[in-house]
Amino acid sequence: MSNIINPDKKDGVYFEEERLTQSHSIDDFDCEDPKINEFLKKDAIRYQRFNLAQTYVLIFRNDLVNERSIAGYYTLSAFGIKLPEEMEEQFRREEKYHKLQPAVLIGMLGRHKKHQGSRLGEDLVKLAIKRIIDLCKDIGIRFVVVHAHKKDHVVKMYNNVGFETIDDKGRDDTQTMILDLYQPD
Ligand SMILES: CC(C)(COP(=O)(O)OP(=O)(O)OC[C@H]1O[C@@H](n2cnc3c(N)ncnc32)[C@H](O)[C@@H]1OP(=O)(O)O)[C@@H](O)C(=O)NCCC(=O)NCCS
Repeated sequence: MSNIINPDKKDGVYFEEERLTQSHSIDDFDCEDPKINEFLKKDAIRYQRFNLAQTYVLIFRNDLVNERSIAGYYTLSAFGIKLPEEMEEQFRREEKYHKLQPAVLIGMLGRHKKHQGSRLGEDLVKLAIKRIIDLCKDIGIRFVVVHAHKKDHVVKMYNNVGFETIDDKGRDDTQTMILDLYQPD
């Protein structure tokens, strides 16, 4: 999957991924989750400046009417994940044991409500995974991690692209889900 969705630009419409900059118009973004809206509008640029999270926006483009708007976004941060005991035991047997496994966190993810019903959320997750797999050439990354909202449609979205839930006692409103990037030869 390239970082353009609908690359043949049928009817002049396509989606293109870009790293967030000051020049993007973020004010109209609304994914109906106040925290995720607010992060994009108030914190994302500052997080980039302090190397805490990088934000990637998916731009909806309609060249016929010269429209350009943010359809969704996600953030990535370096992370370390402590695996549940049963998985840790397996890693220990295979001599791959580290207290924290190297990972990348998808910290925030939302799609604009005007694109509801398009499964754009799943596309955003796939774009994030593609970017992380590219990074694996330069640094060790074993897992992609997300603290998914405990809502059926959110957990299902991550399940659909291969994430599995792990037992993480103590989290009330989110469910930790991981994707193992290991590909046997
Ligand atoms: C989660 C999210 C990205 C999914 O977007 P999407 O893939 O474009 O979702 P779609 O609109 O295509 O809907 C896909 C399915 O989810 C359901 N769904 C979407 N939004 C929903 C909502 N707010 N409440 C309940 N169900 C919802 C749809 O009914 C559909 O169900 P189906 O599989 O039975 O047909 C989007 O709902 C969103 O941005 N939510 C707010 C932010 C958020 O929760 N982010 C996840 C953080 S971990």
